[in-house]
Amino acid sequence: MHDDLIQIAYIAAAVLFILGLKGMSSPRTARRGIVWAGVGMLVATVITFATPGMGNYVWMTAALVVGGAVAYVAARRVAMTDMPQMVAIYNGMGGASAALIGAVEFMRPGTMPASFAVLGILGALIGSVSFSGSMIAFAKLQGLIKKSFLFPGQNVLNLLVLAAGVALAVVIALQHTGNMGGGQMLILIVFYALVVLYGVLMTLPIGGADMPVVISLYNALTGLAVGFEGYVLGNGALIIAGIVVGAAGTLLTQLMAKAMNRSLGNVLFAGFGAAGGQELEAIEGAMKESSADDAAVTLAFAQKVIIVPGYGMAVAQAQHKVWELAKLLDERGVQVKFAIHPVAGRMPGHMNVLLAEAGVPYDMIFDIDEINGEFPTADAAIVIGANDVVNPSARDDPASPIYGMPILDVDKAHQAFVIKRGRGAGFAGIENKLFYADNTRMVYGDAQDVAGKLIAGVKKV
Ligand code: TAP
Repeated sequence: MHDDLIQIAYIAAAVLFILGLKGMSSPRTARRGIVWAGVGMLVATVITFATPGMGNYVWMTAALVVGGAVAYVAARRVAMTDMPQMVAIYNGMGGASAALIGAVEFMRPGTMPASFAVLGILGALIGSVSFSGSMIAFAKLQGLIKKSFLFPGQNVLNLLVLAAGVALAVVIALQHTGNMGGGQMLILIVFYALVVLYGVLMTLPIGGADMPVVISLYNALTGLAVGFEGYVLGNGALIIAGIVVGAAGTLLTQLMAKAMNRSLGNVLFAGFGAAGGQELEAIEGAMKESSADDAAVTLAFAQKVIIVPGYGMAVAQAQHKVWELAKLLDERGVQVKFAIHPVAGRMPGHMNVLLAEAGVPYDMIFDIDEINGEFPTADAAIVIGANDVVNPSARDDPASPIYGMPILDVDKAHQAFVIKRGRGAGFAGIENKLFYADNTRMVYGDAQDVAGKLIAGVKKV
């Protein structure tokens, strides 16, 4: 009876995880989804204390208190723009936990069924790679590692390290099914060292612009590792949670790679910006400045205006002012639409979250496929702190590091206004042809200040 209750609680937790994830699929229900998944995690954690044969309650409680306190403080303090780093750390911790479960199981004396040994060692391998890879991803996004390490023969070296790790994984699995003996501890240590090293080597050459895809991939891998270790522990909630995270992470990885028009193989093995080696197309013309007042006049008399937010809007926290401007234009009879690029900002859905927070209705927000055809009919497009996602080189210059990434066709609007503080590059660190185009005017300043000036300007008209 006691056992049944525990299993029922784990299943309830798993159902809450699934419902939570479903809720997170739309900005309208995302908050509810987070709460449900959190309650699921609480149920799963509490019920684990009641598992028969469980010990080490002091250690478990200490780990919960320390981990929970650190996570609480960190989550409250983290800036929205630093969220990808935070996800990378948490994800790495998940991978490490899966790897440690594997270590504990393989350190126990005696044999285990073949399926346990195989899935256990696979979970340990994948979890370790996910752990060290996520830590490197964190360091890159945090600016602690600024370079992409590329050298000839890198892929071969990586492959050799992985092959050695896999060979030891086979040995460990055979030892623990009783088909082989001897030297177990040393082999286990060398195995972990090799697969942790592989995660580092695999992630170091990948450039910052590809990090979201990589983090999402590691997220999927952590899910898989947790699922495998859940099987070894006979824990249904862990298996289901692992599968849910693994599946969601895989889909998100594919979506992001598609949004950047890169294959996953290209992201992982090409090294961002390393491909090509051709001369970048020279950019002609000069950047032309406009005052906020002049820009406001054009906007006030336009029939259709498309607003393109990017990372700079998030930095400036300008979303409320931008929405105020949009409402003002709307009241004047201007048709206003928001165009969202799937990788604008620094995390998936970044712009959607900010606009939702400011109260922009969903029917004014359009994704790239829906809106791109409308730029030629827009009297004006306002780019607010976006750069890479509106760079026409991605469309026109095969030598550009971001060539092939779909972009918002702002250059096709009759008039483009770009709000940014100065000549700062975007995430990919490259020049933007849009800023030099004849129909582009730069409105320099912090996005929030300029949005305020545009509001004042429109009111004056
Ligand atoms: P970015 O290309 O990063 O450009 C942002 C621009 O905002 C900069 O050129 C900067 O120019 C300007 N800016 C910064 N602070 C500002 C402020 N306070 N006020 C006004 N402007 C400000 O942004 P994007 O177009 O959104 O592109 C996103 C990039 O990040 C892509 O390359 C994408 O691949 C990458 N990335 C995306 C994600 C996800 S999943 N969304 C995650 C990681 C990386 P100034 O310095 O001159 O102001």
